[in-house]
Amino acid sequence: MEIKVIAGDITKIETGAIIANHFEGMEHLDGDITIIDKALDGAISQLITQGEIKGKLSEVTIIHSLGKLSAARVVIAGLGKQPELSQDKVRGVVAETCRLLRGKGVDSIATAAQGAGAAGISLESAAQAVTEGALLGVYSFRRHITKEAEYGEIKELTIVEPDETKLPLLEQACYKGRVLAEATNLARDMVNEPANYMTPSHMAETANRLAETHGLELNILEQEQMHELGMGALLGVTQGSRQPPKFIVLHYRGSDSNEIDIALIGKGITFDSGGISIKPSEGMGEMKGDMAGGAAVIAAMSAIAQLKPKINITAVIPAAENLPSDNALKPGDVLTAMNGKTIEIISTDAEGRLILADALGYAKKLDAKHLVDVATLTGACIVALGNVCSGVFGNNQELVDKVIAAGAEAGELIWQMPMYEEYKEQNKSDVADIKNVGGRYGGAITAAQFLAEFVSDTPWVHLDIAGTNLSEKERAYLVKGATGVPVRTLVNLVLALAI
Ligand code: BES
Ligand code: MN
Ligand code: ZN
Repeated sequence: MEIKVIAGDITKIETGAIIANHFEGMEHLDGDITIIDKALDGAISQLITQGEIKGKLSEVTIIHSLGKLSAARVVIAGLGKQPELSQDKVRGVVAETCRLLRGKGVDSIATAAQGAGAAGISLESAAQAVTEGALLGVYSFRRHITKEAEYGEIKELTIVEPDETKLPLLEQACYKGRVLAEATNLARDMVNEPANYMTPSHMAETANRLAETHGLELNILEQEQMHELGMGALLGVTQGSRQPPKFIVLHYRGSDSNEIDIALIGKGITFDSGGISIKPSEGMGEMKGDMAGGAAVIAAMSAIAQLKPKINITAVIPAAENLPSDNALKPGDVLTAMNGKTIEIISTDAEGRLILADALGYAKKLDAKHLVDVATLTGACIVALGNVCSGVFGNNQELVDKVIAAGAEAGELIWQMPMYEEYKEQNKSDVADIKNVGGRYGGAITAAQFLAEFVSDTPWVHLDIAGTNLSEKERAYLVKGATGVPVRTLVNLVLALAI
């Protein structure tokens, strides 16, 4: 979809549909909608009087203009109650409107920067939200479906602004929105891709392609180097699979200093069968998405490379498959992580924390000043928070607060979980320094406490996205399948830290 910003009069545009908004509870029309209503001989005001248009959030009414306007249709999209509007609601309304129009064969749309001026939403954030909503909302993953889709494609979305002097600002906002949405859709593609395609090697190739396109430095460590570095925890996880593991490292340099300001670390388990502690077969296919943290980090790096903040970022993605075999890791085994700590394996299904232990160890060795890891780490996090928000854990409140704020800006909800010392007790082992499962209760927290053992004093935040990585249904700008969470949070965080 091409997204354009033009200066002009929306009522005069030749297009498949122009979108106008209505707020719930507003009796009078104002602005452009009055002119459109007049051209349509009062059709809109009549529908409002009759109660068909209520302005409820995401209510969409299509009126055919039958030659009375240059646009074939006028679409009235409800924005809900004006004081309750948010940038994220605009994303959702635009997404749902675009999907509906796509289903009706509309291929070009014109709209104002929806929501601008309401509830403190600036013109720029409205334009960014429209762009993100449109691109995220029409996302689909059809790579392995040979039949053509029943719906068409929206080829063009034009944001129309009456004031010409605002164009540069709007273009910048649209560019940012496009970069964020495309990176999110890239992460969605990676997560939706079946595990027989999205192997650790394929993840590495994807990172390589992005590095070449956007000018990132790439370094892929092979199994031999993992041995040399003493990454015993990662090697333990991968040993049951014939897919070679890949340790993907991407560098973005936006500042002159030699310091790595932040390391972004993402879990890259391309399939999690559970290993010898095998999972029940029902729903196991979802575990092709167990590399979502890694995908989000790779995708965020591609966006960062395009937005060019003045900051140095390194991405670290340990990629491996977790499978049972005669050579697989076993419960009772003891592994030694890169930092020298020994780990008793209680369950081979608690593999995420193992590969992250070595990834955190590696990022620490690079002397990164802040660490942010992202992982589909625990079913317990889904039990605690459902699929509405990701869980955040950390050893530094300032960084936790920044991550939560970056998420709020993206419309990606995040809830902080406790890190009381008392939970550490559950991870104590009789035969090693620590064990990889801390029991049934507080499982998301004990997993985070496990990671904390490999971080020590560096400011660190851990995001558990087990519940938010997939959406069961179409909702606002999410479609069924991968959500691309938390790509936009990560990019917002980096942009905020660069200021
Ligand atoms: N990848 C899973 C966590 C997960 C579960 C993500 C469901 C998304 C949806 C992780 O590797 C895992 O298996 N965790 C175990 C840990 C347990 C053995 C301590 C879990 O949550 O059951
Ligand atoms: Mn597992
Ligand atoms: Zn896993």
